[in-house]
Amino acid sequence: MDHFELRGGALHCEGVPLEAIAAAVGTPVYVYSTATMVRHARVMMEAVSGCGSGAPLVAYAVKANPNAAVLKTLGDAGLGADVVSIGEYRRARAARIAAERIVFSGVGKTAEEMGEALAGGLLQFNVESIEEARMLSAVATAQGREAPIGFRINPDVAAGTHAKITTGTADNKFGIPAAEALGAYGEAAGLPGLAVRGITVHIGSQLTSLDPLEQAFERLGELIGALRRQGHSISVADLGGGLGVPHGPGQPEPPSPAAYGTMVRRVTATWDTRLLFEPGRLIVGNAGVLLTRVVRVKPGARDPWLIVDAGMNDLMRPALYDAYHRIEAVRPTGHRSTVNVVGPVCESGDTFTMGREMDEVSEGDLIVFRTAGAYGATLANSYNSRPLTPEVLVDGQRWALVRRRVDVDALAAVQDLAWENPAD
Ligand code: LLP
Repeated sequence: MDHFELRGGALHCEGVPLEAIAAAVGTPVYVYSTATMVRHARVMMEAVSGCGSGAPLVAYAVKANPNAAVLKTLGDAGLGADVVSIGEYRRARAARIAAERIVFSGVGKTAEEMGEALAGGLLQFNVESIEEARMLSAVATAQGREAPIGFRINPDVAAGTHAKITTGTADNKFGIPAAEALGAYGEAAGLPGLAVRGITVHIGSQLTSLDPLEQAFERLGELIGALRRQGHSISVADLGGGLGVPHGPGQPEPPSPAAYGTMVRRVTATWDTRLLFEPGRLIVGNAGVLLTRVVRVKPGARDPWLIVDAGMNDLMRPALYDAYHRIEAVRPTGHRSTVNVVGPVCESGDTFTMGREMDEVSEGDLIVFRTAGAYGATLANSYNSRPLTPEVLVDGQRWALVRRRVDVDALAAVQDLAWENPAD
């Protein structure tokens, strides 16, 4: 459920007409609904409440939408943070998310990143290789601190999602193969500066079936048993994120958070571990739209080209993953037409959809791409010297510009040419 709806013939985000935001900020612009993201956070927390031993922690995957106002909203709603870089760690702390509610994931953490997060405090590093554990051991020892860790297991399970957002098969770079886990825990237990107490898994994103998740969790459960038999005490299991969100009629309907919670409760019943979760898309995906204006309608060989002022640089998901985004007119007339929707970027990949039947619109009209709150603005870039897309947060009747448009002058201002070693 979301809070984008037609009122008086025009699409609103909560109490604010999108036309008003476009008039004030210009387009393209991302618009987020506070009520929607807070609701999703509550639904997720409720779905997993009572799972595992001790209070479960829902650590929002910051990568999905790292806007400071979004993080503040979600932190205040009771979420922790799953971060994958020191930049995300700093953003989570700046949003006042407590250190003991932050987990640090990712295959390529540098010694500098480890050092800063360890000194600043965190719940746990999710370590993805024994090589990483050795580096963290050295960093922790140098600081005279103990780093809490869990190993990420690669369960070799096909997630049934797009190949580029699948993370838990043997062909992916993530985690330690299950067969090597006992060896890794054995070595890490002997490394100074590490407190080995967790285990974690994340198999992919936009999952529309619980089966691969259940399979992965079953494997994790077996490993927890095997590790305990070897004398390791595993007190935390982080089940990652990945639950898909609905993209609208005709698209695969993902399982509900409640169904996910029921499955987790069943599979983990005997684990006797605290459970962590790392949802990203589920919390913010349907809490955001990308609002854009039709620049021109150009005749095409088959269907007309609807050229909008948002491009693949603003919303990369269709170009990267052939992702489907529902497209709606901000002021629908009731008429429909079949069009190709494309951006202004000089690449054929700058195509949002081909041959889509949608609300009929003309030059100058506003449309939205739905389900753009996750992996939208955060993946945006300035390709073709286009500005970085602004972001607006709506809360009831009020709204705020929470990232201003970073225009071409601002982008140019960080460029320079000052030679080092200007020898002769
Ligand atoms: N935890 C870990 C370790 C992750 O790698 C991810 C996402 C998540 C949690 C959150 O997954 P979620 O609940 O959002 O599915 N850019 C792609 C998605 C990439 C996901 C990367 N990892 C897209 O636009 O579909």
